[in-house]
Amino acid sequence: MAIRNIVKDGDDILVKKCRNVVKFDKKLHTLLDDMAETMHRANGVGLAAPQVGILRRVAVIDTIPEQNQVIELVNPKIIAYSGEQEGCEGCLSFPGQWGIVKRPNYVKVKAQDRFGEEFEIEGKELLARAFCHEIDHLDGVVFKEVADRMLTKKEIEEMNG
Ligand code: CO
Repeated sequence: MAIRNIVKDGDDILVKKCRNVVKFDKKLHTLLDDMAETMHRANGVGLAAPQVGILRRVAVIDTIPEQNQVIELVNPKIIAYSGEQEGCEGCLSFPGQWGIVKRPNYVKVKAQDRFGEEFEIEGKELLARAFCHEIDHLDGVVFKEVADRMLTKKEIEEMNG
């Protein structure tokens, strides 16, 4: 496993649409392993492939890092959602920036695993938010675009105590 470089704000790759994964090979497995390690090292709860410079529909999510149970999503699609939550959201590609983003409170995702097996997974609250945020990345949509507003410097200082 290896730490990959995280693409930052201003890089065009973050606004490009990713292509489907068609080969479930060693290269994909290495990408998934590296993405999980990179996400954990950066203390993130999710990471999408374009954030490490790869325009493929791949994302990893881990909203409970202590459990080290990484959710790997290949070619994910939201197939159901309900409710609404409003909360503060950030992104490893936008360090120090936070926005207020409305998301569904419940999301159901259909995806493939690293071997191409289809599965469905549900999430609410933070996990639902992470599904939406990461799948948006695969369509070249970053959270700043969907935020109702970004937090001010003063608000961020207060948040950090
Ligand atoms: Co992000």
